[in-house]
Amino acid sequence: METSKVVTRAEEFLRTAYHELGIMDQFPSRWDTVKQEIVDTGTWTQTTEEVSHGARMAWRNSNRCIGRLFWKSLKVVDARHVQNANDAFDFLDNHLHYAFNSGEIRSVITIFKQKLPGQDNGPRIWNNQLLSFAGQTKEDGSILGDPLRLHETKWFTARGWHFQGTAFDLLPVAMQWPDQEVCVRQLSLPEKMIVPLEHPDHPWFSALGLQWYGLPVISDMSLEIGGVKYTAAPFNGWYMGTEIGSRNLCDAHRYDIMPRVAQAMGLDTSSNWSLWKDRVLVEVNRAVLFSFHKQGIKISNHHDSAMQFLHFEDTETSKGRSITADWSWIVPPLSGSATAVFHKSYDNTVLDPNFFYQESPFPSQRKNKTGCPFHQS
Ligand code: ARG
Repeated sequence: METSKVVTRAEEFLRTAYHELGIMDQFPSRWDTVKQEIVDTGTWTQTTEEVSHGARMAWRNSNRCIGRLFWKSLKVVDARHVQNANDAFDFLDNHLHYAFNSGEIRSVITIFKQKLPGQDNGPRIWNNQLLSFAGQTKEDGSILGDPLRLHETKWFTARGWHFQGTAFDLLPVAMQWPDQEVCVRQLSLPEKMIVPLEHPDHPWFSALGLQWYGLPVISDMSLEIGGVKYTAAPFNGWYMGTEIGSRNLCDAHRYDIMPRVAQAMGLDTSSNWSLWKDRVLVEVNRAVLFSFHKQGIKISNHHDSAMQFLHFEDTETSKGRSITADWSWIVPPLSGSATAVFHKSYDNTVLDPNFFYQESPFPSQRKNKTGCPFHQS
């Protein structure tokens, strides 16, 4: 990023943050220092207070997230002093345990060091999430596990990683520090983290052998605050049931369980007129919510989440801020029009600070022009 752009973004962020934090009296002298550091080095070092508020603002500005009412409660772990992937793994283990909290999930972000000017990339966690299930193509061409993870799984397998061969084998995590070798490790799993799925009314459901993990930790996005990029900053919330019940399990390009469930329910799948898919979706979603509750793991349902989102809109408006959102992501993938967000429209402008997608470093997915898996434009 050009220095002039960093200066503009830094100033805008600092003004807003200091205003929101009620410490505007400290702004002038702080800005003098920061401006000089940017002129000297091309970037700047944020205080823990700045990076913490910046991370909370980034969540508040995440247009695709329905759970933003709770942005202020984000716990920030400042891990910017970590110098290698090996030490960083300990922070990831701690993140899982602290955030999972025996099922009383806390929203947490762990922030590793920023990308420096002149570096191709900062530190990276290669996986999309800290926890995810492997996906492998079997000899007969069918897929075992999560088809979304075929690329990652292939890479781990090629490096000699051995998977048990169930449909729910956890992937290890690959992590890389600038100018160092990529490191691979299996994170230590908190107790109760894996949820076997059962249905409150249909005893046969558990025989499908389905399960999911309790904590979604996005680990491949870049956190950008005032012209600074944190390329490794894993963060988590808790699940909304439809993410698992409608998408991960029922999408045809994911676990694709709808036909099997329909058969067990005795539905007529030969015609769309039976609405068999709609009926299956409802029951799978009930199973997810029921099983998480039974195991004592925090989860939300899409009706409550939509109401909380409206509340978020109100609190933001009352603070003089207008909210931005991506309607197609906010409307839940079940009974959309039965939730209030369906009947509204939103401005999808991307504000700073925010979280951004980055190119996957897994070699089989590289698409950039240079052919270098670590190159970032
Ligand atoms: N949709 C993703 C998944 O199913 C998780 C995204 C983050 N979700 C959340 N509730 N914070 O794994």
